[in-house]
Amino acid sequence: MGDVRGKKILDACCGESVSSRQLAQKGALVTAIDLSSQMLELARKKEAQTPLGITYKKLSCSDLSVFPNGTFDVVTSFMALMNCPDYPVALKEFFRVMRAQGNLFFSVLHPCFAIRGFPWAELHTPSENLTLIIKEYFNNTLIEQGFVLKKRPNHNHQMKRYKSFPT
Ligand SMILES: C[S@@+](CC[C@H](N)C(=O)[O-])C[C@H]1O[C@@H](n2cnc3c(N)ncnc32)[C@H](O)[C@@H]1O
Repeated sequence: MGDVRGKKILDACCGESVSSRQLAQKGALVTAIDLSSQMLELARKKEAQTPLGITYKKLSCSDLSVFPNGTFDVVTSFMALMNCPDYPVALKEFFRVMRAQGNLFFSVLHPCFAIRGFPWAELHTPSENLTLIIKEYFNNTLIEQGFVLKKRPNHNHQMKRYKSFPT
C-alpha cells in the first residue's frame, strides 16, 4: 500500500477496526464504517483507550451518500465484500468516494472456502477452474464500476481443491 501518511482512507466494513487502527498508526487519516453497532462499539472502545483520531460511522458500504465524490485517497475493505449481496453497488460507491487516481485495496474469502449458497461458487460448471470465478468477478464487477486493475493476487486453486474441502 506504500506510504499512507496523511492519506485520507475509508476503511469500509471495519469490524473491530484492526486494519483501521494499523493504518492510523502509520499516519493515515482514517474514517471507518461498519453496519454493525456491536462491532463499532468494540472499535470505539479501542479508540477511547488509545486514541488514533479515527472517525467511526455506522453505515452500509452500499450507501456512502454522506461522503461527497472524491473524499478519500484510498478505500480499503477486508474480508467483507463476499458477504455483501449488493457488492456491485458497494464497489460503485467506493469508486465514487475515491479521488481520481485513488486506490482500492480489498480482500475476500476465496470461493473454495465458501459456504453452500455462496453465489460466486455456483456461477460455473464443476469442470471449470475456480480461478475463473475470481477473474470474472474482477473483470465484470470492478471494471464495470470504473476501476482499472493494477495488481491481481495469485489464484491457482483448482476445482479438485474445492472438492477436497466440501462445506
Ligand atoms: C469478517 S468481518 C471483517 C472486519 C474487518 N474488515 C477485518 O478484516 O477484521 C466483516 C465485517 O463487515 C461488516 N459488514 C457486512 N456487511 C456490511 C455492509 N453492507 N456494510 C458495512 N459493513 C458490513 C460486518 O458487520 C463485519 O464487521
